[in-house]
Amino acid sequence: MTRSQPIVLRSIDEVRGSVRAARARDASVGFVPTMGALHEGHLSLVRRARAETDFVVVSIFVNPTQFAPHEDLARYPRPFDEDLRLCGQEGADVVFAPDAATMYPPGFAAFVDVTGLSERLEGAFRPGHFRGVATVVLKLFQIVLPDIAYFGQKDAQQAQVVRRMVSELNVPVEIRVCPTLREPDGLALSSRNRYLNADDRPKALALYRALAAAAALVQGGERHADSVRQKMRTVLESIPGVIVDYAELVDPDSFEPVQTLHSRVLAVVAARVGSTRLIDNAMLTC
Ligand code: PAJ
Repeated sequence: MTRSQPIVLRSIDEVRGSVRAARARDASVGFVPTMGALHEGHLSLVRRARAETDFVVVSIFVNPTQFAPHEDLARYPRPFDEDLRLCGQEGADVVFAPDAATMYPPGFAAFVDVTGLSERLEGAFRPGHFRGVATVVLKLFQIVLPDIAYFGQKDAQQAQVVRRMVSELNVPVEIRVCPTLREPDGLALSSRNRYLNADDRPKALALYRALAAAAALVQGGERHADSVRQKMRTVLESIPGVIVDYAELVDPDSFEPVQTLHSRVLAVVAARVGSTRLIDNAMLTC
């Protein structure tokens, strides 16, 4: 299906104006925040927004405050024209693509912290990351004022940080978290998969394999979290060139480690494959 190109807006006032005009027509507003380099995972969120709301805004902004100085901000892929084409194909109405100075004018000093949750797991390996995420997401919500915002389960801890921020800061937006889309072999789609070379690509499957092994153990009746953790680590470490950051079983709300498995537990893994850092997760039900 070919749709027309969405309107690309660069300024906050223009976005506010276009959303105001949509609301004047009684349209509901759906919002999908992204950093671009769009893949089917992102597009599944846009599709869901298109199906559930009348006016769909996608943001494309590689947010500098969520990258540490040594991370991949400079080399993060930015195929903007292709991203626009894909947004058009999925029927997005507006693409908000601000530059860094629009979002962070000189002297910018107001940040949002969801303490505790933001310091665990991803937060421990990427200090400041969730502060940057929460800050930019709150700013984007204040600019777009959506009824519903769409996030991926792929970044489960991020989705939980956003939920907590919205709930505790009384932000009037509904958060919908959508399933992780995967390659046919199980690798979770990620913009960072573009960094994987031909050697790394098969190794990257270790994350999915570790989660699948955990799910199989639990299905077989294993209830000791440590045994399942150990299994995930063994699977990951069996692949040369895969360096494990964490392989954990956590409560899906608090992201605190669990000791015994009860109804719903989230298995979360992060590993470096060559120079690429990947994360994945799976909900285990007992
Ligand atoms: P980005 O990595 O571009 O992801 C944008 C959204 O797409 C996130 O909600 C993410 O969870 C979702 N997503 C990524 N891969 C997915 C997959 N395989 N299946 C389903 N959804 C997937 O996450 C960010 O950007 C940023 O941190 C952002 C929220 C935009 C703030 O800067």
